[in-house]
Amino acid sequence: MADRRQAGIIGTGFMGTVHARAIRRSGGTVARIVGSTPQSSRAGARLVDAERVTETLDELLQDSAIDVVHVCTPNTTHGSLVREAIRHGKHVVCEKPLAVDPAEAEELVNLAAEAGVTATVPFVYRFYPTVREARARVADGSTGPVRLLHGSYLQDWLAGDTDDNWRVDAATGGASRAFADIGVHWCDLVEFVSGHRITRLTARTVVAVPERGGRPVTTEDVAAVLFETDRGAFGTVTVSQISPGRKNRLWLSVDGADESLCFDQENPDSLWIGGRDVNRQLMRGTGEHPSAARYAVVPSGHPQGYQDSFDAFVADTYAAIAGEAPDGLPTFADGLRAARITRAVLDSSRTSGWVEVPA
Ligand SMILES: NC(=O)c1ccc[n+]([C@@H]2O[C@H](COP(=O)([O-])OP(=O)(O)OC[C@H]3O[C@@H](n4cnc5c(N)ncnc54)[C@H](O)[C@@H]3O)[C@@H](O)[C@H]2O)c1
Repeated sequence: MADRRQAGIIGTGFMGTVHARAIRRSGGTVARIVGSTPQSSRAGARLVDAERVTETLDELLQDSAIDVVHVCTPNTTHGSLVREAIRHGKHVVCEKPLAVDPAEAEELVNLAAEAGVTATVPFVYRFYPTVREARARVADGSTGPVRLLHGSYLQDWLAGDTDDNWRVDAATGGASRAFADIGVHWCDLVEFVSGHRITRLTARTVVAVPERGGRPVTTEDVAAVLFETDRGAFGTVTVSQISPGRKNRLWLSVDGADESLCFDQENPDSLWIGGRDVNRQLMRGTGEHPSAARYAVVPSGHPQGYQDSFDAFVADTYAAIAGEAPDGLPTFADGLRAARITRAVLDSSRTSGWVEVPA
């Protein structure tokens, strides 16, 4: 990489640490990190071993050496933090959901374009080599015309009645929870692999645990969606954060006329390829496509995982900042797409009807 990026991170929780590792593994420097208070900011600097201890957001934004800001805070804070980062001339990586409504997401897309900054959203499951292999098989015709897209994204960390988190509260998490938190990853991935776009859908959302932490819950634990695509395929997805034993089970199947391709995020080094006569389990590193090999960091048989995908996403973001155009880099436009699909899911659930998803 020509330039060594100087990164500032906003948010000292789970994602703050994931981004810090990815920044370093992409050749960047973790210059500063801030949390919601001076104390948490100082603790964050120790946690990720930042170059300079920082107490306020202003210090981070005023630091002219910092050229890229990573926004890793609760969902409803993303919009104002992204606006501030762009106003200070920074490139931005903003966690999903980019914004909690499509109008704000669209505004952020336009602001980034006007400022000429690189602006990306970590739809990082795109960066598994097996996902790239699946995408290449659809694109080169091996799969045949895609007819059916189906799967689920299931977690269990909110299965108990006493489980709680900021995401449960619409004031910090936004009006959609399970779908905006993880359903958007599934939709991004299915569109990325298949090349199809979801054009209309009908959805039902369920609040299975009506009270958490002594307050009523208004955001969904479960979403079930039927959809159609622009190229004539049909699909279904179930999204849940209350499914015991399912930790981060993003599973999808792309069924074409000639083969089905099946990816499981909890077993990401292998791609299942179903045929009429023979089924195969393609191990990472044994496929034919260079677009997949590009993201293999260790030889086949040495497992790769989530952090590796995250590292690849940040490395490609930094390559884009340096003027390259990496294939498949998820940008703010993809964040806007996710916000539009989320809005359609909420609208459909409210009206029990079919809703068009804007292109
Ligand atoms: N791309 C992915 O795979 C992925 C995975 C998990 C979470 N996320 C997203 O990352 C974001 C953060 O999630 P998390 O799991 O790290 O949450 P978390 O609760 O672990 O961390 C959030 C942090 O933000 C800090 N914070 C809150 N308000 C702030 C503010 N105004 N300024 C600075 N810091 C503030 C909190 O103190 C906390 O340290 C969410 O938007 C979530 O949807 C993305």
